[in-house]
Amino acid sequence: MVNTIYLDNSATTKPLKEVMQAFMTVNEQYYANPASIHAMGVESNDLLMRAREQVADILQTEAKYLLFTSGGTESNNAAIFGIAHSNTHIGKHILTTEIEHPSVLETVKQLEKEGYDVEYLHVNQDGVISLDDLRTKIRKDTILVSIMHVNNEMGAVQPIYEAAKIIHEMSRAFLHVDAVQSFGKLAVSFKGEEGPDCISISGHKIHGFKGSGVLAFRKKLKWQPYALGGGQEFGLRSGTVAVPQAVALAKAARLAVETMKDRATKYRQWQNEIRAQLEGYGEAVHILSTPQGAAHILSFSVRDLKGEVIINAMQKRGIIVSTSSACSSKQTKTSHVVEALHLDEHYKKGVIRISFGAHNTVEDIEQLKQVLAEVIMELKGEIM
Ligand SMILES: Cc1ncc(COP(=O)(O)O)c(C=O)c1O
Repeated sequence: MVNTIYLDNSATTKPLKEVMQAFMTVNEQYYANPASIHAMGVESNDLLMRAREQVADILQTEAKYLLFTSGGTESNNAAIFGIAHSNTHIGKHILTTEIEHPSVLETVKQLEKEGYDVEYLHVNQDGVISLDDLRTKIRKDTILVSIMHVNNEMGAVQPIYEAAKIIHEMSRAFLHVDAVQSFGKLAVSFKGEEGPDCISISGHKIHGFKGSGVLAFRKKLKWQPYALGGGQEFGLRSGTVAVPQAVALAKAARLAVETMKDRATKYRQWQNEIRAQLEGYGEAVHILSTPQGAAHILSFSVRDLKGEVIINAMQKRGIIVSTSSACSSKQTKTSHVVEALHLDEHYKKGVIRISFGAHNTVEDIEQLKQVLAEVIMELKGEIM
């Protein structure tokens, strides 16, 4: 689409030019199989190892504990199934939150069918779990706690480092963190001995490519291979490794971390400005995202309006935003996150998510504010 302003960066991002360049170069020059023993294979493997080390360094772990995957969904599935299936000697109790991404929720539901005991941590109206709830629910036979860092629908940030401390003090459970929405926006790492045990990342949320991701561990875990074959990726995930994807992801990750502070300041400023504008509409608008949430996501709801109506009205004026999440936006039922926040019925149907990315400019935000004013006036004028 020409002349559109893209503000749906939590659904996916446009790859950065530098990332595309890295991908092209590897495809053109270093296309050999990294498992081959000839010189070209060795070169390709060197690139792969460097990419692995770069991402491992950012996460503060070792390269040998980091797998390249096809994205956040695979990383989440692999982490949860892997930890659950390898620790039945300790127990079968799993804790997660009620606002996880479907790639976590559907996986734990499958484990429930396999006889695991899954419990959910509730969130308050800001979308945040309670550490006391965690303390109460964690048990000696808890083997896995899976908590997302930043919620994809409304940006709530979970206290993952405090949670890690509690989990490690009170049980032998592993903490898996879905950092798909937080990596490159907030500091994400294993923090030496104190952090999570396992982290998922997705390439396409950080101006890398769709079909690329990372699953990283703090240390060696007992683990069953989940793709059998040639034994690549430390025997856990067989299949010829996509070196261009890995290099591109490492490049995107490095750029994201290098520019993180500046972008966070910019996003926060934009969020504050739009928040102030939306607050001016009184009861007509309810803002779901809190000022303590992630800076790049701002979700709000317009009273008694359907999300699609607002999205279409904004799209006609060149602004691309989404309903609360790309995964649930095509479904008609209210999202599980919106349900968990116990929103007033009047605000449940019209949740809109604005999400900023590296390509957005001050001019985009000025245009957004103008369009928001026009659209809300057009659709809600009578009650303003
Ligand atoms: C929080 C979260 N986890 C996991 C995923 C899935 O990632 P991917 O699209 O790379 O499979 C998403 C994607 O929207 C997400 O927002």
